[in-house]
Amino acid sequence: MRIFSGIQPTGRKHLGNYMGAIRQYVEGQDRGEGIFCIVDLHATTVPYNPAALRTSVLDTTAMLLAAGLDPDRCVLFRQGDVPEHTELTWLLCAVTAHGDLNRMHQFKDKSARQRELVSAGLFLYPVLQAADVLAYRAHEVPVGADQRQHIELMRDIAIRFNERFGETLVVPEHRIPEVGARIMDLQEPERKMSTSGSSEQGTIYALDEPRAVVKKLRSAVTDSGRDVVRAPDKPGISNLIEVLAVIRGIDSGEVEREFDGVGYGPFKQAVGEAVAGYLAPLRERYGELRGDEAALEAVLARGSQQAAAIARETVADVRERMGVGPPRRSP
Ligand code: TRP
Repeated sequence: MRIFSGIQPTGRKHLGNYMGAIRQYVEGQDRGEGIFCIVDLHATTVPYNPAALRTSVLDTTAMLLAAGLDPDRCVLFRQGDVPEHTELTWLLCAVTAHGDLNRMHQFKDKSARQRELVSAGLFLYPVLQAADVLAYRAHEVPVGADQRQHIELMRDIAIRFNERFGETLVVPEHRIPEVGARIMDLQEPERKMSTSGSSEQGTIYALDEPRAVVKKLRSAVTDSGRDVVRAPDKPGISNLIEVLAVIRGIDSGEVEREFDGVGYGPFKQAVGEAVAGYLAPLRERYGELRGDEAALEAVLARGSQQAAAIARETVADVRERMGVGPPRRSP
């Protein structure tokens, strides 16, 4: 089984990214052939700084390695190193409905918030994402809950391609974790923890110092009750229960039983210590890896060669089926 996922190089990675996506990549290496891509081309769809983009790609590479991706057991590469992604994007545009792209939540949100140019790239973002996955004929795509609509679209694109041009592409399945797919902001627990738009206090960054982590958890917003239980009117406490469940690898009910009658203060302290302990090894390894940029580039270079060998085959098949360019083999 082949597993593919992409990750944005922009921004500092936070606990939500780690629990929702990165953690699943690391598990994916053991379940199948993992291919993981740092999507620098996607990062160009909103205003950005070219030099900062290069830096962010290396930050993200070091973060993924620190989290446990092993370049000997998976393929880790930079999207912009494999030109087949852009070519396949154009080819797939032929079987992508304009109306579907118009309906994408992420496009609607980002274009509404955009004060500068709303680029055509932002509109085509989901097609590039489809190309990312379909180029590898991946079966499974581990992502956070916010990517559900993009995965549905890439399935539709693959199905439409196969119907129109003959069986060529694999229709991928998403894999959204049952717990930890939607970690909420600690200060505004009705909204997702995110790099853009959340408060500094409400966001736990993967590289936060342990003391800062404990402090942020201690001041996490909760309701006026005192029972550690999940409930629709207790988004803050429900979120913290979920965070602890993921870290301990147990279900939320067990967390509720363990902290029955304990009260919010000690519970928040326990979650803070657990999160700090959970992120500490990641932060240490990151510190060791990030300084050696030549080594990080070497990992990406090797990954891009492995990736390109697969993507090249798919794009050649797609061109052949679509009648683009000369025939693949002479008759
Ligand atoms: N859009 C995804 C996100 O913001 C990143 C991404 C790009 C991706 N290409 C992908 C995820 C392919 C899964 C598969 O998180």
